[in-house]
Amino acid sequence: MNKILNLKFENQTVFFKSSEDMSELEDESIDIIITSPPYNRGKAYTSDNGEIHDDKMEESDYLSFLTEIWKECYRVAKKSAVFFLNIGDSASDQGISEKVAVSAADASWMRIQDIVWVKSFLGKGHYTPSGGSRRLNNLWEHVYLLVKNRNEYKIDPKAIGIPYSDKSNIGRYSNTDLRDPGNVWLIPYTKTTGAKIKKGHDAPFPIGLPYRCIKMVPNVETVLDPFGGTCSTLAACLKLGVKGYAYEKYPRAEIIKSRILEGKTFQESEENLIPHLELSLRLLNDILSESSIFLRIIKSKTELSNYQVLNEVLNNLNINNSFKRSLEKRIELFKESLNKKEEQEIKYRQTKLDF
Ligand SMILES: C[S@@+](CC[C@H](N)C(=O)[O-])C[C@H]1O[C@@H](n2cnc3c(N)ncnc32)[C@H](O)[C@@H]1O
Repeated sequence: MNKILNLKFENQTVFFKSSEDMSELEDESIDIIITSPPYNRGKAYTSDNGEIHDDKMEESDYLSFLTEIWKECYRVAKKSAVFFLNIGDSASDQGISEKVAVSAADASWMRIQDIVWVKSFLGKGHYTPSGGSRRLNNLWEHVYLLVKNRNEYKIDPKAIGIPYSDKSNIGRYSNTDLRDPGNVWLIPYTKTTGAKIKKGHDAPFPIGLPYRCIKMVPNVETVLDPFGGTCSTLAACLKLGVKGYAYEKYPRAEIIKSRILEGKTFQESEENLIPHLELSLRLLNDILSESSIFLRIIKSKTELSNYQVLNEVLNNLNINNSFKRSLEKRIELFKESLNKKEEQEIKYRQTKLDF
């Protein structure tokens, strides 16, 4: 059997060995751990070296195998470390993910919050119909947010924030148009065929998932994925310029290399808020119903806010046509007139004071 060499690419390193022993990493050297362990439901994780992971262990063996690796993760984690553990329930065992969370608690990890990763919602995000007449398709998975020390870690929800649906909230809660996105994350698979999504591996997560986890933790320098798979986590690390380490016992080196490289071109997609889409449709309908071929000028702050929402939606959809440009012009003109009005009011108040 050929020994496969470890992979080093820019600031990303993959160790082709079991993460039961991560002696390459020093104690307390890792800021974030992001991983999705084998699901133990008979998935086919094949490799270049011909060895195949046994993905149908006895449940107790599976859970103690995980606990041993979570202990190694605990050793290498800094005191301030955050651990994002992704796992989904299986069709035949709806409680397995909870047991995996307990396997991490057995290794001293503290559970802070459950994040729900939604893979498809209202038709957005591909999935293969499989529910039949006995159950619904499972369209979400857990991401357990675990920490080493409750008093030492920090997250910054606004670093992955979403805009306010009601813009009048800006200034009320903070001065930026960003709010905590909450713990339900829609991160759909964008490709539409199973083969393309999987790229030769049975269970990659989208790069957007580790990307978001890394972004929400301040001052990250080092990230670890003890169950690398295709190494989607390292693609996110490459994009964000942080050092990434992964372990993969059953590697497919070419797939791993091309996956990490995807990080170079990865673009986080901007999602439109549902109320903004609804408002935009109504506005477009109003505009189309008017007989004039020109977009009329904005007359109030409410109209300004509505047009700004429509502009944001069209931006996120990468639409740039003459309608979009005249919308921008209208917004600009109204803002200018608001500024002028404000200046005049200030002058007026000043003259009153001078008297
Ligand atoms: C669910 S997959 C991870 C997929 C990954 N998140 C991605 O986006 O490609 C789990 C991976 O763990 C690997 N694995 C199984 N046992 C391992 C061990 N002892 N050490 C390191 N990797 C292992 C499997 O070969 C499989 O590729």
